[in-house]
Formats: sequence, C-alpha cells, structure tokens
Amino acid sequence: MSSIKKKPNKKVFFINQKVNSRLKSYIVSDYFWAWAKILVGKLSPKAYLQFLDLFAGAGRYEDENASTPLLILEHVINDVDLRAKVKLVFNEADYVIYNKLKAEIEGFPGVSTLTYAPQILNESVGGGKIEELLLSSTLMPTLLFADPWGYRGLTMDLFSHILKKWGCEIIFFFNYSRINAAINNKKVTAHINSLFGQNRADRLRRDFVRTNQEEKGDIWFERITPEEREQIVVVNIDAAFREALSPRNVFTQKFRFTNGRGNRTSHYLIFATKEPFALRVMKDIMAKQSTSNEQGVASFESSPLHKQLSLGLTTEISPLEKLIELLRRDFVARTLTVTELWNEHHIRTFNASTHRFTLPNYKQALLLMEERSIVKILPHRDKRPSPLGKPTLADDCSIIFG
Ligand SMILES: C[S@@+](CC[C@H](N)C(=O)[O-])C[C@H]1O[C@@H](n2cnc3c(N)ncnc32)[C@H](O)[C@@H]1O
Repeated sequence: MSSIKKKPNKKVFFINQKVNSRLKSYIVSDYFWAWAKILVGKLSPKAYLQFLDLFAGAGRYEDENASTPLLILEHVINDVDLRAKVKLVFNEADYVIYNKLKAEIEGFPGVSTLTYAPQILNESVGGGKIEELLLSSTLMPTLLFADPWGYRGLTMDLFSHILKKWGCEIIFFFNYSRINAAINNKKVTAHINSLFGQNRADRLRRDFVRTNQEEKGDIWFERITPEEREQIVVVNIDAAFREALSPRNVFTQKFRFTNGRGNRTSHYLIFATKEPFALRVMKDIMAKQSTSNEQGVASFESSPLHKQLSLGLTTEISPLEKLIELLRRDFVARTLTVTELWNEHHIRTFNASTHRFTLPNYKQALLLMEERSIVKILPHRDKRPSPLGKPTLADDCSIIFG
C-alpha cells in the first residue's frame, strides 16, 4: 500500500537551483512572454493581462539563480507594452519565504516603471482568499501558474472556472510522485477528489483496482507495473483537464521531469488551453527545452540520463517513421493543406500517439513522404523556396494523398 511521501524540506529547497527547476522556470517564463505578446495587442483600453503565481516561492535561490517570478518580472520590465498592461500577482503562504520574495521584487531594478505594481500576497491556497480572487467574475485574461509541493488546495473546479474565461490558461506543475502515492490513501481522499474531480478520481481508483490485481484460483496477484500505473494517472489528469470544459475545447500538453537519477518520474508540467495556436506555441517551447530528441522529434522530457524511459517514448520504429505511418493510415485519398492536416490530426484527434510531434515534425514527415512519392505536394517542389538546397513547406501548401 502506498504511503504519503514526505514534503520537500523548505530549508533546502531554495538553496541550490536544480536543473529541473531551471527548465521549469524557462518553460513558464518563455511561454508567459509569448502569451503576453500575443494578447497585449488584443486588449480593450481598460483591460490588462494578469500572471498569477499561486505558489511563488522565494524568487531567488541562495546560489543567486533567479526563479520564475523574477524571470517573468524581468520580461515585463524589459517590454514597453507589457510594462503598461501586465499585472503580476505572486502568492506565497510561508511568511519567511514571502518576505524574501517581497524584498526581491520590490528591490528589482526597474520595478517602479510598471503601471501595475506587482501584488505580493501571503495567503494559503485552499484558505478561501485566493479562491475568491480567482472566482471573481471580472477576472482579466490570466496565465495561472500552480507549482505546489503537493496537491492540497488545488481543485479541478477552480481550474475549470479559469479555463472558461477568455485568454485564461493554466500551467500546473503536477507532482506525480506525491500524488501517485496519495491516490489510495484514505486520509487524503477529499484532496484527490478535488484535484481530479470526483468522477475522475473514482474512475482512477477503479482503474487501479481493475488492473492492479489478477485472480488465479483464490489468490490475487499484482500485475500492474509502475509504468502502467503512471500511464493511468497521466491519462486521467489529462482527461480531467480536457473535461474541464469539453474534450474538444481544451488542449493539453505535458512535459515530463525525472528524479535526479533519471529512473523515475518526479513531475509533469501540464499546460491547458482553449486555443490551438497556444498549444502550438507551448509545444515549440517544450520541444526546445527537452533534454533529448530523436530525428528532430523532442522527448518532452528532462532527464539527467537523456533516456527515453517514459510512457510512449520507447518506440520500436523511429518517431518520424511512426508519424508517416499514422498519416498514411489517416488520410487515404484526401487532399488538404498543411494547416488543415495539422488541425485535424494533431489538434482535434490529439492523443498519446501524436503528443510529441510539433508542426515542424509534421512538415519533416510530409517532406519525406514527398521524397518517397507517397504524397504529392502543390506547389511542386521546384516551385517552392529552397534556401538550404531543400524545398520548404509552407502552411498553405496542399498535400495530396494517394
Ligand atoms: C515548489 S515551491 C515554488 C517554487 C516556485 N514556483 C519557483 O519556481 O521558484 C512551492 C511553494 O509553495 C509554498 N506553499 C506551500 N503551501 C502553500 C499554500 N497552501 N498556499 C500558497 N503557497 C504555499 C511553499 O512555501 C513553497 O515556497
């Protein structure tokens, strides 16, 4: 039976920044920048964008490395549009850590140039005040970042309320190792129910029971592997996010972090959005931060071993060949543009077999298919630009499948 894992030690967490923390901060701050730059031009005169970090931490590690709040603050200060139109809200429950964060932010060079002074809150998520702020009907377009040490206080109802609003997206650092250990623990049933939503949590437990044991005569044998268990958890949290609105209206993308030895999953960074374009932007950012890739197909992982141990990553055939196989199967006798193909295949039927492929990967696969005469592409390759001696593939090119 699983036991509750110990919480991380506050005293040591903010001493030296680990590789995973650095990568997580880069992904979040790079995405914040892209999100803010896209939306800032679409705001009405009185509106503003909000970055809301629910579990902000100290802002800087004792080794002097800046963490997510300071990277985001720097982006805003350095951009004239964002300075005028972004409100940063950082929350941290621990009073000592909150004071460190406050000092870092208030002393940050250029902070006084912001139209909206950063708001630094010392509230406990789950205590009511933060929930009140998030449930307000006047919530501005908000990028919500939730990076807790565990799972307490986070509810799918809250996530779903936020996702419904225009311009609102969520980045959740899902603590797989702690949540996995808590799923069957009766003492925290209510927390797990709130996080996954009651129906999903019940289903998750049922899936565990169904797959966990096998009857042979009078004896029940464990037959679920840790990888299978992980797959069940991941599929269910993914589905919970997609069902927050309706599966066709929410897109998710995840990035896996292993522990320091690289042999187990520690966290997933989960991104949820209603916007297909936002998914494309986040995929490109996560692909860039992956610590390994094969034929240009990123692992969407950070592992010190650069091993592809995770779910669905150990393919017998190379990933691009796998994508070619899927495209051949799914588009027989069809003609469509690259954008239409991407939208149909990736965005609408987005699933475990396609989640690692970025738009550039689809283009790589289509160009290989053209070379092998599996598809025809219009305009013809001689008529398309070939800056590096190889024809390019624009989003509006037509792909003709045989
Ligand atoms: C993983 S750390 C955050 C790291 C931070 N996101 C970063 O990138 O540097 C989690 C933080 O949440 C704080 N915390 C724990 N429980 C909390 C709660 N209920 N509400 C708000 N903050 C909480 C902890 O004190 C800790 O500083």
